[in-house]
Amino acid sequence: EFAILKNIQPQPELVREDIKKDPGFGQYFTDHMAHIRYTNEDGWQAHQVKPYGPLVLDPAAAVFHYAQEIFEGLKAYRHADGSVWTFRPERNATRINRSAERLALPQISEEDFINSLKALVSTDEAWVPTPGTDGDESSLYLRPFMIASERFLGVRASHEVDYYVIASPAGPYFAGGIKPVSIWLSKRLNRAGSGGTGFAKCGGNYASSLLAQKEAADNGCQQVLFTDAEEHKYIDELGGMNLMLVTKDGQLLTPALSDTILDGVTRRSLLDLAPELGLEPVERQLTIDEWREGAASGDIVEAFACGTAAVITPISKLVSDDFTIDHGDTPGEKTMALRKALLDIQYGRVEDTHNWLVRL
Ligand code: COI
Repeated sequence: EFAILKNIQPQPELVREDIKKDPGFGQYFTDHMAHIRYTNEDGWQAHQVKPYGPLVLDPAAAVFHYAQEIFEGLKAYRHADGSVWTFRPERNATRINRSAERLALPQISEEDFINSLKALVSTDEAWVPTPGTDGDESSLYLRPFMIASERFLGVRASHEVDYYVIASPAGPYFAGGIKPVSIWLSKRLNRAGSGGTGFAKCGGNYASSLLAQKEAADNGCQQVLFTDAEEHKYIDELGGMNLMLVTKDGQLLTPALSDTILDGVTRRSLLDLAPELGLEPVERQLTIDEWREGAASGDIVEAFACGTAAVITPISKLVSDDFTIDHGDTPGEKTMALRKALLDIQYGRVEDTHNWLVRL
């Protein structure tokens, strides 16, 4: 049902093949994008795949003023037989609708969401990297997003909305690959509060993380950790990924979901996989103090960041202005085992016993 309008000036094949060899993260984009238009009168209509390029929007479009915007992130993986798959896209479809509800944007059907991925990826199939030929953990990152495009400066939900999907060949999110990253504890700047938008994948959450991310960089760290906004006591999440800890006696700990934590697909999948690796998944409130004391006593032995973009990235240390938790520069054993188990499924190297893969 998506009309395909082919780009008559695609990027040259040599350029494309070169990009796929070392794409970094989020720097290059494919030749097409998917688009669906929404109006209050007509609902979702005009399903299209068209040439990738600048959008023409009215300067008074609501998104520019009141940030009525949400997005998603998932990946397309090429398997050894050449086929292309994505991972648990129905969870992204559910989540975009939870985000849409919170940001007063329209609901989109799971069918439209998944078909938009299929239509774009089949058109730009040549852009999906091939592990081995291209970078080993390379994939095509898919970025669906929904913006309020009505020209109107009153503060109310937009009556016109546009949904797009763009795609970007991706290698590791952090330049060092799986080299452990250092994390800065944000004590002054908060990302989310109770009743706010923290659980939603909206641009505003990421905008509000940027100054804290800068503070992290100024303190020599690569990511920032946010806590609850009231007491700065409980661990919430990192700037753009979830946090997990591994205990000496085999628990995989992560903060329980709340209205300030993003319900990550990687987070959920690792909790689901944990028992297969002899780990007990535990979702509960976690305090900075217990991480600190657990690391000191040897009860907490590993820490890592997880997300679609970051996959699993080990954490070497948590730094704040008055203490440091040090897990060392060697990736943890359980961290790497979870990482391998997840990637083996995503790249089709083991049987997909959970039925998590969807062919694109
Ligand atoms: C993702 O993991 O897909 C995200 O949206 C996070 C962002 C840091 C790229």
